[in-house]
Amino acid sequence: MKSTFASLAIAAALNASVSGFALAQDSVEVLHWWTSGGEAAAVSVLKDDLQKQGVGWQDMPVAGGGGEAANTALKARVTSGNPPTAAQLLGMAVNEWSEEGLLGDLTSIADQEGWGKVVPDVIKNFAVHDGKWQAVPVNIHRPNWLWINAKVFKDNGLEPPKTWDEFNAVADKLKEKGIVPLAHGGQPWQDATVFDDVVLGIGGPEFYKRAILELDDAALDSDTMVKVFDQMRKIRGYVDPNFSGRDWNLATAMVLKGEAAMQLMGDWTKGEIVKANLTPGVDILCVTAPGTEGSFLFNTDFFAMFPVGDSKLAAQHKFAASVMSPSFQEAFNLVKGSIPARTDVSGDKFDACAKKSMGDLKSAVSSGTLMGSLAHGHAEPAGIQRAMFDVVTQHFNSDMPSKDAVAALVTAINAAR
Ligand code: GAL
Repeated sequence: MKSTFASLAIAAALNASVSGFALAQDSVEVLHWWTSGGEAAAVSVLKDDLQKQGVGWQDMPVAGGGGEAANTALKARVTSGNPPTAAQLLGMAVNEWSEEGLLGDLTSIADQEGWGKVVPDVIKNFAVHDGKWQAVPVNIHRPNWLWINAKVFKDNGLEPPKTWDEFNAVADKLKEKGIVPLAHGGQPWQDATVFDDVVLGIGGPEFYKRAILELDDAALDSDTMVKVFDQMRKIRGYVDPNFSGRDWNLATAMVLKGEAAMQLMGDWTKGEIVKANLTPGVDILCVTAPGTEGSFLFNTDFFAMFPVGDSKLAAQHKFAASVMSPSFQEAFNLVKGSIPARTDVSGDKFDACAKKSMGDLKSAVSSGTLMGSLAHGHAEPAGIQRAMFDVVTQHFNSDMPSKDAVAALVTAINAAR
């Protein structure tokens, strides 16, 4: 008996030191911008999943919705020769880091796990470069949503708006009653999120493609684009006086508390809705942004691995495989508000808004109306994106006439090309 206990104790001690060693080796430092309540809950799902496999998590959060601050921090880390093990990237950023030849190659694990068969082409186009897997997709977010406080609408006898004219009519009624129509945070990426919706809603999918994805001069310098800026000016009149600089999740909180009626934002808002014990699609309605039914703007969060030495390769591969596993994609996206990036994950456990997203994604793929979001790094490289953001934000925060905004947009894009 004694000897059995002794050998068990020795085995336990050995095990502890082995797993201690494994943990020290198998840890990943992950740079990301998921710092709101709902986003942090989603990070925990990822962290716990990795920990179960003996991969430790070193957190490197950089606050700031849309990830601009995180990208700046990442550039500084890489430039100083001290990259993180892994980093969250949006699609265009995957392209840019990959062109620099700075991302780890995940092709062997992708082939082993058969990712090619379950990831849609539109996402593969960002993840795979020159035949090499350079990043793993965690989700598909949809930025063209309008979130509505159901009680505020019901109490005021309002119906969800389907067009921008209906939106203006509803917003005017709310304003007359002293209710803030639109919760908004005045940050360039949030202004651009609204701009995406207005371009698509007013111009339609073909116009969005020509103006935003192809930067076609005739579409950019058009009467339709003048109408887009006219609508942006109307929207400026529907936000409260304290909108400047407000974080997106604080704007969401205004809708959840009934302090504002609506928000134009991606479905990461659902993380906040669920955290507040409210039900998406019931307490907070999700309808496609005005005029955008039938189209699906998307953005995907990827994780890319930076070459930090062979000692981290095993952990990086475990991380990538874990992110791509169907059970993780389900568990994570249930919390994050997005839908899985794999086509073979069942939608059964998802809420009404995610189910609509899944259905709309399929129809958008077949009708050719699935398009990358400019605001969320899936339409243009960073230089052009920034130039466009600047004009949109400058117009939103001034009395600039729409025609001048169109001219400024064309000039800014040409200078950045
Ligand atoms: C998006 C990102 C989402 C969400 C949002 C707000 O760009 O894809 O995952 O976090 O920013 O931070």
